Amino acid sequence: MQEEHLLQEIIAIAKDCGSILLSASDIERKIHQKAGRGNFVTDYDSRVQAILKSRLLELVPGAAFLGEEDQMDGTDVSKGYAFIVDPIDGTANFTRNYHASCISIALAQDGRPVLGVVHNPYLEETFHARKGMGAYLNGQQIHASDRTLAEGLILFGTAPYDEKLIRKSFEVAYRYVSRAEDLRRSGSAAIDLCMVASGRAEFFFELALSPWDYAAGALIVEEAGGFVGDLQGGALTYDHSQAVTARAPGVELVDVSDVLENDMP
Ligand code: IPD
Ligand code: CA
Ligand code: CA
Repeated sequence: MQEEHLLQEIIAIAKDCGSILLSASDIERKIHQKAGRGNFVTDYDSRVQAILKSRLLELVPGAAFLGEEDQMDGTDVSKGYAFIVDPIDGTANFTRNYHASCISIALAQDGRPVLGVVHNPYLEETFHARKGMGAYLNGQQIHASDRTLAEGLILFGTAPYDEKLIRKSFEVAYRYVSRAEDLRRSGSAAIDLCMVASGRAEFFFELALSPWDYAAGALIVEEAGGFVGDLQGGALTYDHSQAVTARAPGVELVDVSDVLENDMP
């Protein structure tokens, strides 16, 4: 299928799934606990993922499919085409009617994202990128900001499902915010990455994320002229959970190696 047509089809699917989030009712009765602290899934996560799986695989037959609600069940995303999707990024927000959740869809080729779509139905904001073709918000090209860290807005995720990372997350956040302007925490890593891509914030980090949280957003950041990597600037991979940073080009990484090495309660 022609790439532009494929992109438009994927955006249409993301928007259809967004409508499901907007019309969700009685969410409290459809919440189930998963492994890890404060980690929930709702019937909507499962339903949206099932729709994504069947419609996306119709578009690219034979592609691998890695979605949060199937977990890493041996799906190999390193060869050929693979969809890496989060049916609802920001599930805790969704269960609270907080209106900061999105659908995140990446298409990877030989282990690297080549297409990414992040759709936030609450704001009717659809971010997309194709490898080498720039990043867009509702069809308008976007760019990472030219601000420095000192002028910067810092975003972070607290790696909430792993209790051991809470203290370290706040230490790393302090290292950055003490050199910057201020801090925010949205509850959706994919939305945070798009905030860096669109120049609304300058730096994002989270000490543990899974590929479905960042595959689409990372490509959108890179195509907007920003950088993604781990906390030391090493390249991201898309086959296991890891620490993720995203930054505007004028923002330098801060040395946090002592925080990462220390055992903290
Ligand atoms: C979570 C969100 C959150 C981040 C967590 C993610 P979920 O995804 O992106 O911002 O802090 O680490 O797991 O569970 O809502 O899909
Ligand atoms: Ca997620
Ligand atoms: Ca999710």
